Amino acid sequence: MSEGLSDDDPGIRLLARAAASVDPRRALLVCSGDLPGVGGEATRIVLDVRERHGARARTIGITDVGALAELRDMEVAAVWPRAHLGKDFSLECLARGALALTEGGRLLCAARKHKGADSLADVMVELLGNVETIERDRGYRLMQSVHEGRVDPDAAARRIDVRYEIRDHALGDLVLQSAPGVFSRRELDAGTRALIEHVGALAQERGLVPASVIDLCAGVGPLALWAARRWPGARVWAIESNLRAVDLARFNARAAGLDERVRFESADGMPAGPSADSWHRPGELALVNPPTHADRDTLGALVVGLRPWMAPGAPVFLVVSRAGVSTEALRASGATVVAHNTSGYAILEARWDG
Ligand SMILES: C[S@@+](CC[C@H](N)C(=O)[O-])C[C@H]1O[C@@H](n2cnc3c(N)ncnc32)[C@H](O)[C@@H]1O
Repeated sequence: MSEGLSDDDPGIRLLARAAASVDPRRALLVCSGDLPGVGGEATRIVLDVRERHGARARTIGITDVGALAELRDMEVAAVWPRAHLGKDFSLECLARGALALTEGGRLLCAARKHKGADSLADVMVELLGNVETIERDRGYRLMQSVHEGRVDPDAAARRIDVRYEIRDHALGDLVLQSAPGVFSRRELDAGTRALIEHVGALAQERGLVPASVIDLCAGVGPLALWAARRWPGARVWAIESNLRAVDLARFNARAAGLDERVRFESADGMPAGPSADSWHRPGELALVNPPTHADRDTLGALVVGLRPWMAPGAPVFLVVSRAGVSTEALRASGATVVAHNTSGYAILEARWDG
């Protein structure tokens, strides 16, 4: 996942220069992508399975608690805040970086003033007791805190143990746990709500009772778990690339007593080919709230990836902000597509007849 990462970005260059002199085995990149000039023996914490594609550094998933706890003795920990993941996630990254440092090690963060550099600096002080700006370039500041013998464990825990609860009338009595770094972490997305309401009403009207449902791009599981509740005889197979979202979705399924009928899998889109896994069976219904910011080709490939996994004629419902891109890709793959406009959202109903 390269969203927000570019080697030409002045902020990335500032971080890269500051980290390049360190033995890469003692450099930690906290959800920051590979940094130019920082060797392949560095360690990267990743949030999303897609960040593993082509990664130079050794990657550790953010949900791998054991491996994260082993991270220590780092001389440098670099944090590259990405606005679309939320400030709470950047603060967590700072805390994880600080905890991994050896005494004398440096926590680095490059940010712009109007992107919250001041509040990031405040949290660096909370964690390590000091911060200074060591370089500037075109509006970016490279901020550094030095490990002077102590990381404040309470300050770190406050940033790492953040959890939210999502409740919404569209979800009935389902309560979803959520956390920094996942989509719509504090509340049910309005598009997801529109999709649930639309499909719920249509299913009633048509007497739709699917035995197998697919949720592509599942997040922390609202659509998958709603579907499992709505159709008590259905098995639901859900795919999501964000490792933390998958972890939370599994937790949410267990908490709702639905884990025997719902399978959350961390993957980059649908599997390409046939599979012996008994959960990988043709969907009689699919629900999709795809990523809003994906580029045209990525979005097209993602939604068309459902094709081999749908039973002939089975409906795929997508709630989309750019109806044109998805419709074009689906039609080019032979699907018939009908658009419904509801509550300010475009909901597409697509099907492949064979
Ligand atoms: C708009 S959100 C919807 C999440 C959830 N379905 C909901 O309604 O709250 C899109 C989700 O797609 C995930 N995603 C993006 N690209 C993906 C990919 N290639 N494969 C699987 N999931 C992906 C994102 O991590 C994000 O959680």
